Amino acid sequence: MRIVESVGELQQVSRSWHQQGRGVGFVATMGALHAGHLSLVEAARRPGGRVIASIFVNPLQFAAGEDLASYPRPFDVDRRMLEAAGVDVLFHPAVEEMYPPGADTRVSPGAVSLLLEGESRPGHFAGVATVVARLLNAALPDRAYFGQKDAQQLAVIRSLVSDLAFPVEVVGCPTVREPDGLAMSSRNGYLQDGEREDALALMRSLARAQALVSDGERHSGRLLEAMRAELGLYPDVAVDYVAVVDPADFSPASDIDDQSLALVAARVGRARLIDNATVRDTNLLQYLPPAAGARVLEGAHVWNA
Ligand code: PAJ
Repeated sequence: MRIVESVGELQQVSRSWHQQGRGVGFVATMGALHAGHLSLVEAARRPGGRVIASIFVNPLQFAAGEDLASYPRPFDVDRRMLEAAGVDVLFHPAVEEMYPPGADTRVSPGAVSLLLEGESRPGHFAGVATVVARLLNAALPDRAYFGQKDAQQLAVIRSLVSDLAFPVEVVGCPTVREPDGLAMSSRNGYLQDGEREDALALMRSLARAQALVSDGERHSGRLLEAMRAELGLYPDVAVDYVAVVDPADFSPASDIDDQSLALVAARVGRARLIDNATVRDTNLLQYLPPAAGARVLEGAHVWNA
């Protein structure tokens, strides 16, 4: 795996691959890699194609007081993981390479960037859109892969690519979870022992929404109530928002349909975590504790034995 640090060199490498008729896939990351990131690399691999991955902790997308300085940067471990996953070129630019002195153009994303994460983290999506625009112009990929874990970011990037006519196909990839259902995140490493259990509250609140919908509920207000009730069981989880939206524009959904997306953001210890799920799916139901009735039966079984 070759490591490239300059935009110009990456453009040259990508152009030479295009000349050879090879498809180029691209995965942008901020490092501190986990199986979620590697699933994007896996999706990007195609027979005869090439894969570029980037590691760049983008200062523009962190607000003052956020975790830019402490964001984990285990570069050697990350490099080995990407190499083992079959990445051809790792793009690892310095801050000055991405933002040379005087380069103060910024990309201002549209309406989808203003709600939820946009409200909680002002300026965040402008930072994401600006860095993704520069990364796409550096890597010149045919396809770029982003995780559904950051659903609103994915929507912002889809709009960016469509509105500014970047010649790239954006591919959304499913959220990868730990065995107990916690969505993988570079920030999970911030969680102390008890907080790790509390962090499951986010996923469980989404599971409650899925459970209601599978029982026939169609009003988002009832879903939001159930999500808040679940989160309320965890006094150390500070909820930022819960929402049920239309994923096309992130506007609130009142009656839910096949696409409706439930989202949650909360702080657990020093980690700010987000998660989301399509409410018509049933993938999270497996992580809910058994219903009270089931527990009684289990107890009776043990007693009989
Ligand atoms: P980062 O948080 O490192 O995530 C990089 C990519 O991995 C994003 O597309 C994200 O959605 C995806 N990802 C993270 N956790 C995932 C999981 N559990 N399952 C599937 N995919 C997951 O997102 C960023 O970096 C930055 O904002 C970036 C786009 C690189 C711009 O700086």
